[in-house]
Amino acid sequence: MSKSAEALADLIRARAGAAPVALGLILGSGLGHLADAVNGVAIPYDDLAGFPHAGVSGHSAKLVVGDLEGTRVAVFAGRAHYYESGRPDAMRLPLEVLRALGAERLIATNAAGSLRPDIPPGGLMLLYDHINFSGTNPLIGEPSDARFVPLTDAHDAAMRADLKAAASAENLPLPEGVYAWFSGPTFETPAEIKAIRTLGADAVGMSTVPEVILARFLGLRVAAISTITNMGAGMADEEISHAQTKAIAPLGAAKLERVLRRYLRS
Ligand code: HPA
Repeated sequence: MSKSAEALADLIRARAGAAPVALGLILGSGLGHLADAVNGVAIPYDDLAGFPHAGVSGHSAKLVVGDLEGTRVAVFAGRAHYYESGRPDAMRLPLEVLRALGAERLIATNAAGSLRPDIPPGGLMLLYDHINFSGTNPLIGEPSDARFVPLTDAHDAAMRADLKAAASAENLPLPEGVYAWFSGPTFETPAEIKAIRTLGADAVGMSTVPEVILARFLGLRVAAISTITNMGAGMADEEISHAQTKAIAPLGAAKLERVLRRYLRS
């Protein structure tokens, strides 16, 4: 663990209390309001040296540490994307801090384009695996042998089972699929969508995979859920845009909140 992560964890404990955090939650585009449901202390990323700046519109930038449904959580409202800086490891320090706060689990959320007609906009998808289609990796440059992280079971089977059970208890469909990480910031071409469907992906997006890799590197168990905001390029008549992502994300966000609250309660 880096010294700066330990120092930031001390700062966070001084403000939010020393009790260990059980779980980290990264909120994607349009999902930020769940952070306000936490009974705890909000710390702007600007107070946490080395944390990402509020970059993408629709993403806030604060860490909220406190209670959500009886679980002590650290909610990251706002993430750094590879396409903002060219650094695939931009979320490394926040995840090191999460580990330093005691967390053993991470749930990452995102907005994504669906490649499956049976998973329409407004729905959710639980990732059971991913395809790193970006050509980069957040552990490039990591000198230790720990960089050779096995990703066979990267998306934690027990957490997935619990999330499926939570969704089922809420009467919400939670299909499982494969998420492909494209670097962004452009949306994909129809040819790219056709190609990645052929390669076995069920959804596409511009985040999450680096966080899953970093979480496994740091020894966190991890699960990830997409809120579907659109069909992949060329699959529907509508135009794909960031404005549309922000407009549709709240539909999935309401469902996601029910699943997460139920998961945390049980
Ligand atoms: N592609 C990539 N990222 C996305 C999409 C998409 O279609 N929708 C929301 N995020």
